Amino acid sequence: MHDVLNSAAMGKLSAGRPLYVPFECIIVSVSDLTPNEKLFRLQVPEGKALGHLPGQFVQVSLLGWGEAPISIASSPTRSDYFELGVRRAGSLTGALHQRVAGDTIGIRGPYGRSFELDRLRGRDLLLISGGCGLAPMRSLIQYCEDRRAEFGRVTILYGAKSIEDTLFKQDLNAWETSAHFACSRTVDRAQAGGCYGGNVGQITSLIPPLTIDCAQTVAVIVGPPVMYRFVIAELKKKGLTSVQIVVSLERQMRCGVGKCGHCSIEHLSCCQDGPVFWLHEIEHLRGAL
Ligand SMILES: Cc1cc2nc3c(=O)[nH]c(=O)nc-3n(C[C@H](O)[C@H](O)[C@H](O)COP(=O)(O)OP(=O)(O)OC[C@H]3O[C@@H](n4cnc5c(N)ncnc54)[C@H](O)[C@@H]3O)c2cc1C
Ligand code: FES
Repeated sequence: MHDVLNSAAMGKLSAGRPLYVPFECIIVSVSDLTPNEKLFRLQVPEGKALGHLPGQFVQVSLLGWGEAPISIASSPTRSDYFELGVRRAGSLTGALHQRVAGDTIGIRGPYGRSFELDRLRGRDLLLISGGCGLAPMRSLIQYCEDRRAEFGRVTILYGAKSIEDTLFKQDLNAWETSAHFACSRTVDRAQAGGCYGGNVGQITSLIPPLTIDCAQTVAVIVGPPVMYRFVIAELKKKGLTSVQIVVSLERQMRCGVGKCGHCSIEHLSCCQDGPVFWLHEIEHLRGAL
C-alpha cells in the first residue's frame, strides 16, 4: 500500500494518464441487457485505446453524482471502444442509466490487478461467472476468442437468478454454438411451462458433469459473494487446488488507487492488490470470501 501512496503522490500514470484525473469519454451506444442492466459502449478521446487488461475496472464519474467502480466488460483486443455493463443500484448508476449516445461521462483508470494472462496462456480454462460477474469475465472470454490459439480448452459456465436476469444473452447464444468454447448456463428458477428449455439449478450443478484435466486447468470465478465458497468446494472435489483457482472480489471502493482504505481485506487493498487474486493468496484472510 505504501508504494501505491508514494506513486500516487508522485503523479504516476495509469495507462499513460495521470492516476487521479478523470477524462471525458463519449457514449457511442447504449443497449438494454435486462430491465435493470445496460451496456454502455464508450470511446476514449482521439480514438485512443483505454489501455486495459481483462479483469481491470474503471471509476465512472458524473458531475454532481460522484463515482462508482465498474468492471471493463470488453477485451483490449477490441481497442476502438470499451464497454461497461451497469446495474442500476443507486444514485450514480441510476443517473448513468439516463445517459444516451452522444453524452460524455468521466472515467479514471484502468485500475487494479488483471487476470494474469501469462499464467493462463497454454492452459485449459474453466471460466465460471454468476450474475454481474459475467461483465469482467466477458473481457477475458473475448480475449480468448480473439487469441484462440494461445489457450487450451475453454469452458464457460454462467448462472443467473432467472431468464430475465441473464446478462449478455446474445453473447451466451454465440458462445454456446461456437467451436471455440464449451458453454453451459443455468438459472436458479424458471417458470413451469415457460419456453425456457435449459438447465435449472444453481451454478454448482454444472460442475460435477465436467471432465477436467486437472494438471492443465485453471479455473476463474467471478460472481456474487455467496457463490465463491460453494463453487470452490465443487472445484476442489474435481481435484483442483488453490494455486489453480483465480477469483475476482468486489468491495466497497472510493479512491480505487490504494489510498483510502475502504476496500481493505486485512493488509490487502482490493482495488490495488486485486480485485483479481489467486485463491491461495486470500483464502486464509478473514472476510475475504
Ligand atoms: C471492482 C468493482 C467492479 C464492479 N463492477 C461492476 C460492474 O461491472 N457493473 C455493475 O453494475 N456494478 C459493478 N460494481 C458495483 C458498483 O460499483 C456499485 O453498484 C456502484 O458503486 C453503486 O453506486 P451508486 O452510486 O449507483 O449506488 P449508491 O447510491 O452508492 O448505493 C446503492 C447501494 O449499493 C451498495 N453498493 C455500493 N457499492 C457497492 C459494492 N461495491 N458492492 C456491493 N454493494 C455496493 C450501497 O451500499 C447501497 O446499498 C463493481 C464494484 C467493484 C468494487
Ligand atoms: S478504494 Fe481506496 S484503498 Fe481501495
